[in-house]
Amino acid sequence: RTSPMVDPFGRAVTYLRVSVTDRCDFRCTYCMSEHMTFLPKKDLLTLEELNRLCSAFIAKGVRRIRLTGGEPLVRKNIMHLVRDLGRQIDAGMLDELTLTTNGSQLATHAAELYDCGVRRINVSLDTLDPDKFRQITRWGDFSKVMNGIDAALAAGIKIKLNAVALKDFNEHEIPNLMRFAHARGMDLTVIETMPMGEIEEDRTDRYLPLSQVRASLEEQFTLSDIAYQTGGPARYVEVKETSGRLGFITPMTHNFCESCNRVRLTCTGTLYMCLGQDDAADLRTALRASDDNALLSQAIDDAILRKPKGHDFIIDRTHKRPAVARHMSVTGG
Ligand code: GTP
Ligand code: 5AD
Ligand code: SF4
Repeated sequence: RTSPMVDPFGRAVTYLRVSVTDRCDFRCTYCMSEHMTFLPKKDLLTLEELNRLCSAFIAKGVRRIRLTGGEPLVRKNIMHLVRDLGRQIDAGMLDELTLTTNGSQLATHAAELYDCGVRRINVSLDTLDPDKFRQITRWGDFSKVMNGIDAALAAGIKIKLNAVALKDFNEHEIPNLMRFAHARGMDLTVIETMPMGEIEEDRTDRYLPLSQVRASLEEQFTLSDIAYQTGGPARYVEVKETSGRLGFITPMTHNFCESCNRVRLTCTGTLYMCLGQDDAADLRTALRASDDNALLSQAIDDAILRKPKGHDFIIDRTHKRPAVARHMSVTGG
């Protein structure tokens, strides 16, 4: 086994998140503005180039890859990349290949995803009410996502649902989302909204610290902390009444930067060393400069040396400006 890359704070970087497109067929209000400008298609790396970049990271000890977007399944021919990366699992070079998806195209791709080696995916779902779903995604079709979830479960893929906790939107719906998830053997994570990118609404109006969510759940349910870990930032509890797992992702109130194991690659070949910082390294130049990976390998090493200690997100009640100007959809969370 290759020994992993280690950043200046002693953290091993074994996990790569790859945003394969900045586009999405939804416009979740906390994620995107209604009128987003997307990258011109000519600026995208090809899927072959993305695959080469992934291989370079795997050669440097990355053991898990998560494809994100935007919405990863709207990228044309994305299954070619999934298939290529799946071969790295077969070759023992990769432990896990996963996706974070909005579920809208899952019904079409679920069986093939499983066939390529995908065993676990995360699906974003903030409400079970079709009208509210349309409201939060601006036009998303709830029934398509339900069909997608059913198809993925039927294909044998484990699912974690992601719900961003939003005051006056879904805060009273978390128990229902949890029952829904647990009844189907899915985990649920609730997430504190992070101030990234200009959106139409004021994030301070929607921000909900998860201590409040937990306290209100504890009026109805018995939660016990468990050691379960996916390698992600969630802290899990087991819920006695549903025998299911519930995770809390608390970037704002209790960050998890000290155990960060990840970097993020975008579809233009830019590497972000932290979700909550602007600093980024260009890998495209090195990628295109030559067919052997020496330059690229050096560019990756240089980038890892720049990985910062953590993010400095704050919910800014005076300036109402996002802490990071870049939208979440550029790096896929
Ligand atoms: P697993 O634990 O592997 O299932 O994945 P995950 O929960 O890390 O990934 P997912 O894509 O489902 O992201 C869920 C939420 O966690 C999103 O809101 C992400 O933005 C957030 N998140 C994931 N990784 C980080 C991180 O390193 N820092 C911060 N601040 N947020 C993160
Ligand atoms: N804060 C927290 N999570 C967010 N996501 C999108 N925008 C935000 C935000 N501003 C979540 C999505 C998806 C994951 C990739 O990131 O709901 O599940
Ligand atoms: Fe699309 Fe996901 Fe952003 Fe919603 S959160 S707009 S589904 S990328």
